[in-house]
Amino acid sequence: MKKAIIIGASSGIGRAMAKILSSEGYILGLAARRTKLLTELQNELGTRSYIKYIDVSAQEEAIKSFSDLIDEMSGVDMIIITSGNGYINPLLDWEKEKSTIDVNVSGVTAMINIAIKHFYKKGTGQLVVISSVAALRGSGGAPAYNATKAYLANYLEGIRCRIKKDKKDITVTDIRPGLVDTDMAKGEGLFWVQPVEKAAGQIYSKILRKKKIAYVTKRWGAVAFLLKHIPEKLLYKME
Ligand SMILES: NC(=O)c1ccc[n+]([C@@H]2O[C@H](COP(=O)([O-])OP(=O)(O)OC[C@H]3O[C@@H](n4cnc5c(N)ncnc54)[C@H](OP(=O)(O)O)[C@@H]3O)[C@@H](O)[C@H]2O)c1
Repeated sequence: MKKAIIIGASSGIGRAMAKILSSEGYILGLAARRTKLLTELQNELGTRSYIKYIDVSAQEEAIKSFSDLIDEMSGVDMIIITSGNGYINPLLDWEKEKSTIDVNVSGVTAMINIAIKHFYKKGTGQLVVISSVAALRGSGGAPAYNATKAYLANYLEGIRCRIKKDKKDITVTDIRPGLVDTDMAKGEGLFWVQPVEKAAGQIYSKILRKKKIAYVTKRWGAVAFLLKHIPEKLLYKME
């Protein structure tokens, strides 16, 4: 039976991915800080699942807990990391900037580290990380958020290069969503906010096709193309 771990399974995209993978027969490891939500999710799933408290901002403990979860499941075939945070932070409040870097950069990198080492040992596997279309350009409204996602996109490319050089059968998929209707995307003036089930369905189809980089939903692929090419002065008008 196929096995997968989702870090950040307690809500939003991670939760929706858990439901899809369970319906496809996966045994699941569900990790996040809000374990009560993980238990609620567990009760809704049709396949066996394991729950683990992981706070990626406390890296040493998170590394231990993630490694323990992999051992308890006797290894896994797929690891999806959706954990992330971000703030609209035009005044550059340092606590918010730091928290975003702690979670999205240090925390997620620590989890990638364990995931890749597990797949090297096992000889095969698929790592899926949710970055964002925000990785493509800077943002005056959420500078740390966009920068942390750019870091992740670059880091994952580096890991793919490493894997290719080492001739390993490991897939690394960088999912870059546009706006998805979750707690993270609450606010004024948002456009093209996509239902989370639709985004999760498209993410699953990109995973099956072993994509290196994928924009979801499809219309956000078009936005990504535009974002890559617009001059910086147009970014000044955006929040
Ligand atoms: N929604 C969008 O429009 C959008 C667009 C592009 C990219 N994304 C990315 O998609 C990913 C999932 O976000 P979402 O939209 O599904 O929002 P969400 O519902 O707020 O989910 C965020 C997830 O991250 C987990 N998380 C946050 N801090 C954590 C920590 N310190 N340790 C472990 N887990 C932590 C949360 O779990 P706990 O709080 O229980 O720990 C939760 O499961 C994020 O990386 C986000 O940047 C979202």
